[in-house]
Amino acid sequence: MSQLSLQEIIDEVNEVKRYFYASLENIDGIESLKELEIAVLSKKGSVAFLNRQLGSLDQDLRQSAGAVINQARSEMKGDFDEAFRKLVAKTRDTQLEHEKLDLSEIITDSGFRAGRKHLITRTREELEDIFIGMGFTVEEGPEVETDWHNFEALNIPPYHPARAGQDSFYLKFGDPESMLLRTHTSPVQIRVMTSQQPPIYAVMPGRVYRRDTADARHTPVFHQIEGLVVDKDISFANLAGTIETFTKAIFGPSIVSRLRPAFFPFTEPSAEFEVTCTICEGVGCRTCSNTGWIELGGCGMIDPKVFASVGLDSEVWSGFAFGFGIDRLAQMRYAISDMRILLDNDVRFLRQF
Ligand code: DAH
Repeated sequence: MSQLSLQEIIDEVNEVKRYFYASLENIDGIESLKELEIAVLSKKGSVAFLNRQLGSLDQDLRQSAGAVINQARSEMKGDFDEAFRKLVAKTRDTQLEHEKLDLSEIITDSGFRAGRKHLITRTREELEDIFIGMGFTVEEGPEVETDWHNFEALNIPPYHPARAGQDSFYLKFGDPESMLLRTHTSPVQIRVMTSQQPPIYAVMPGRVYRRDTADARHTPVFHQIEGLVVDKDISFANLAGTIETFTKAIFGPSIVSRLRPAFFPFTEPSAEFEVTCTICEGVGCRTCSNTGWIELGGCGMIDPKVFASVGLDSEVWSGFAFGFGIDRLAQMRYAISDMRILLDNDVRFLRQF
């Protein structure tokens, strides 16, 4: 066999490199890269073939030719490894891209919108937060009540005219007119006082029912929040301060509250609390009948008869209560002209809050 010259070996090496780099540029996946490795760099590949030729060469030539082949091999090996690494990373990226589940895209593309809490729920939660911040707990009671909790224990006996103002939905359950849908949240006061020992600082939000014909300011189902404080040495000033504090927290610092004498069977003395009209800010407008004030709810010092009905000694304990409509508050705050819209579930309205 005739001896190869160094130049011939260099030519062969260069040919292998040309092939290798041309193929590397056109690699389209791990498979074809592996094939190139076998064809060029493996034991059966071109480089190994070139190495085998070295055996027939003179010592000197073998050394320099070997160096040329080794140099080419390590160059190609380095570039191969680099290409392999990049390809693996790229394959992983494409895979991730394909497997990614973009839910927001699906939602927007198909025209859905995320829902939100109803204005009443949001207002109730906001009120709860304010009172929790003032040290109150949040309590709940049943919507189906006994006549005793809803009226009797609150010092509203059967003949009392206050019952007429709260026309009730009675249930066909037990004795006639003994069970009803609660007409206010005040019965929860009774439930809290019969199940907890004072000191009590609690608010009680919930749904209430009255046989009212729906109009711009009334719906037969609405929401109230009740407040109850029972402790030693509680004064009317504590009540007024509490009302001023939470009305400011809800309506902002430019709104003030005031109390006007009123009558409720379960509080003595009683008052209605009013806040600066949110529409005209106290100047006088149609909404507030030019008075500059809007009535929000009722309040007062707990009547000794109520304490007696829950077994608390009114010589030891004193307290106050208040109650107002959550729907009414939202109506005032957002200047909602007709309350019935709160029950329509029209998304064009609901979306505004
Ligand atoms: N329960 C009364 C109503 O629905 C509101 C009320 C007035 C609640 C005075 C109170 C209160 O706690 O002290 O009209």
